[in-house]
Amino acid sequence: MKQNGSSTIKFFSGEQIPVELHKVRIVQKLFLKPIDERLAAINKGGFNTFLLNTKDVFLDMLTDSGTNAMSDNQLASMMQADDAYAGSQSFYRMEKAIQDVFGKEFVLPVHQGRAAENIISKAFIKEGDVIPMNYHFTTTKAHMEMNGGKIFEIYTDEALKIKSSHPFKGNLDVKKLVALIKEYGKEHIPFIRLEASTNLIGGQPFSIQNMREVKKVADEYGILILLDASLIGENAYFISQREEEFKNTSILDILRTMCGLCDLVYFSSRKVSSTRGGGICTNSRELYLKMRDLVPLFEGFLTYGGMSVREIEAMAVGLYETTDETVISQSPSFIKYIVDNLDKNGIPVITPAGGLGCHIDAMGFLPHVKQEEYPAGALAAALYIISGCRGMERGTISSVRDKDGKDILADMELLRLAFPRRVFTLSQTLFLIDRIKWLYQNRDLVGGLTFVEEPAVLRFFMGRLKPVSNWTEILVKKFKEDFGDSL
Ligand code: F0G
Repeated sequence: MKQNGSSTIKFFSGEQIPVELHKVRIVQKLFLKPIDERLAAINKGGFNTFLLNTKDVFLDMLTDSGTNAMSDNQLASMMQADDAYAGSQSFYRMEKAIQDVFGKEFVLPVHQGRAAENIISKAFIKEGDVIPMNYHFTTTKAHMEMNGGKIFEIYTDEALKIKSSHPFKGNLDVKKLVALIKEYGKEHIPFIRLEASTNLIGGQPFSIQNMREVKKVADEYGILILLDASLIGENAYFISQREEEFKNTSILDILRTMCGLCDLVYFSSRKVSSTRGGGICTNSRELYLKMRDLVPLFEGFLTYGGMSVREIEAMAVGLYETTDETVISQSPSFIKYIVDNLDKNGIPVITPAGGLGCHIDAMGFLPHVKQEEYPAGALAAALYIISGCRGMERGTISSVRDKDGKDILADMELLRLAFPRRVFTLSQTLFLIDRIKWLYQNRDLVGGLTFVEEPAVLRFFMGRLKPVSNWTEILVKKFKEDFGDSL
């Protein structure tokens, strides 16, 4: 049965407000430093928000990965961790949680999501293979390509529209899938990958209806389906909200239905269960055996997989908590609040609100900054300077260059402001909204960026940039005129 526990509550005024359905019992002091210090910090960090020190950050919205708040029960579970290289009881508790929540029997532990991608890519992909997916994630693409695969993103026409009311922008286009299989042949397709709450297009879910259609095609051609379940909780929540058939279905039943439609499931626990770590699971002994021996080689013995036993305990509890609607609706409720508010004020954001974070369309926000000068990176730097809030560039800086050294321009230039579960309050959210509105009014002052140091692989992590002009000083001057000494 469905629990009625969404975190968005109707107020007497008629407004829908996200309410924190938890109380805060451990706190971490935050610092909102003066704007000159923030400007110095982003200069030191090469205009890359990954290179900021959190002592200089007020609201850290870089990611929800490993930053969700843990519950009292998760912390308590860590006390019963069973330290053992092999056969730890902690592992068996986690294995049971995966079996209960995802409905998969065979479990492999790994130290985080990309480690699962490494194992799966090594086990299943060979040179020249083709992998259809609804959309890539950075680490997924890197691992699959490194193992000789070529990825094809076969999203629907709705997926890349900034403004949309489509409830399932993460759907895979089944017609394109059939065409791709016919073109390349099923023997070159090791699996179809579905990513829950599709990260890089704005945390957008797919429907179970779509999964069923994909499965029908997959079964017809005898191709496996791989589910990236890192953000499955939010996707399940959106299904319960937006897919008629599942309006009265419990989150647990939705999760099991989703996993039941896939042959292989992997996840980053840093996201799905508010801890560290990750895992791979399947009901097929044959698929399990194809991957099993790689785990001790790359991760650690089969009952810890590179994780500490404390993390494993917290992961087990966190997985059960993912079935609780009051837990998984927290971030989407806050995200919806900020997205609707910005949208109402004409600020370009991805709609409908998704999971993971609020995604600002940097090309719409800064139309005067050309894509070669990285509007999403520039917007991330500008927002940090004027608010101390750190988001993540998800645009061309997160892309790569072609063989002639030219940037492959990203489909979308997004500034992602992640909302880790149960971390930020409504007043902090209001502060963020206020500063984004100010920045939008002063958007003409923001200019572009250019690379100073550029790593060859995953350049967005460690790359260093600089502004193309003195726009940061002008922006700071205007901020001081408007806010005086206020932070
Ligand atoms: N798949 C998805 C959909 C992800 O969002 C991530 C990580 C991974 C796989 C890799 O997992 O970090 O545990 O190795 N996303 C983080 C983010 C990094 O900030 O969105 P990991």
